[in-house]
Amino acid sequence: MASVLTCMDCGQQYPLDSVIFACGVCGGLLDVTHDLEALRTTVTRDLFDRRLGTLDAPYNSGVWRYKELINPDVDPSLVVSRPEGNTNVYATPRLADWAGVDTLFLKHEGENPTGSFKDRGMTGGVTQARALGMKRVACASTGNTSASLAAYAAFAGMEGIVLFQNKNIAVGKLSQAIAYGATCIAIAADFDRNLELVRELAAAFDIYVLNSVNPFRLEGQKSIMIEMLQQLRWNVPDWVVCPGGNLGNSAAFGKALYELYTLGLVNRMPRLAIIQAEGANPLYRSYQTGFEVYEPVHAHTIATAIKIGNPVSYPKAVRALRWTNGVVAEVSDQEIMEAKALIDRQGIGCEPASGCSLAGVRKLVDAGIIQRGDTVVGILTGHLLKDPDATIAYHRDALAGIHAVEPNRIFDAEPTLESLGAILSPSTLTHV
Ligand code: F0G
Repeated sequence: MASVLTCMDCGQQYPLDSVIFACGVCGGLLDVTHDLEALRTTVTRDLFDRRLGTLDAPYNSGVWRYKELINPDVDPSLVVSRPEGNTNVYATPRLADWAGVDTLFLKHEGENPTGSFKDRGMTGGVTQARALGMKRVACASTGNTSASLAAYAAFAGMEGIVLFQNKNIAVGKLSQAIAYGATCIAIAADFDRNLELVRELAAAFDIYVLNSVNPFRLEGQKSIMIEMLQQLRWNVPDWVVCPGGNLGNSAAFGKALYELYTLGLVNRMPRLAIIQAEGANPLYRSYQTGFEVYEPVHAHTIATAIKIGNPVSYPKAVRALRWTNGVVAEVSDQEIMEAKALIDRQGIGCEPASGCSLAGVRKLVDAGIIQRGDTVVGILTGHLLKDPDATIAYHRDALAGIHAVEPNRIFDAEPTLESLGAILSPSTLTHV
């Protein structure tokens, strides 16, 4: 059996070449489901390990190395790849110590071609768009998806269309979308409304939606988990901790881990911890009711990437939490920026939303949920340069309601040795 689209609620199936973004019967979210029984014989650790280091496209990509689990049937010559993935896993003992665990790794998805994990989903989505013969692709975005869509659409020779809120989009992301030539539309509406608009656009025009309601995006994002496990030599960590906004990544992580476990590539699953900003926390609120009640919120947070009040992949994230015995936590903007500053200070760096991962580990250790001896992998989702304004304002201690801990202030000096000497400590100067 080839891969199909399957409704996660009613199980209705559709051929892979259907251009649909919700179940035609019940409106539920769609999954790309693979024939795991058939894949059991072909998909092995050895297959993936043998492809490490290849120069041949598309298997040199950290997404398409795992093609059998992403889009097994697509013709490799159609793949639109930069190539993405192959991001580093850093051992971070000082941050581990700060968070209260012995072993903390950070996998840096900001090292993708456009600086965020979205490239992994976008190669999946734009490849499918090409396979379907689509010419125009669109998304609503808090910034990173639009940067990624703009780049991949341009690379594939398609028209990219991005809808974003007319405020709160980080300058790095906006400049990318403009530079890569997408049609950029600023709207006086938040992300949640803009996502509805994109879905309406697709229904009215011949436009392919590349938000994470498109299940091919999530297939690409699964590769974060597969690659991470391969980098850890298939040793399964106790926890994977990631920020949660629209919840596409959390959904993809759950599906990846479930499939790897079902295929026997790993003998257990890590527990997933999804971390939301306090001002954009509908999943956290729902988690506290045992997922009995779900209510959208009006979102606000310094981490504009995750300023989302009605996450579209909520049901898939709940499924991921059930599969992995996962947990949800919330962190304040103060905690987010403090954690980000510490990650930056290691020479690694990330954008504000990624600070959730480290802040969340510390919070869950304090709550007695993560144990000191547990092995933890935190996911950094975006590059430091995505949101330079937030970084500089933090170090100037100019962010409303946020107190900069140990800011790195800029000194003013006259162009003289004397003036510089007054700033630099004598001990430093004697070593010159
Ligand atoms: N971190 C960053 C840097 C992001 O850009 C996003 C989402 C997330 C975390 C949250 O991931 O939505 O899968 O839960 N950014 C989207 C965008 C929504 O439009 O770029 P999620």
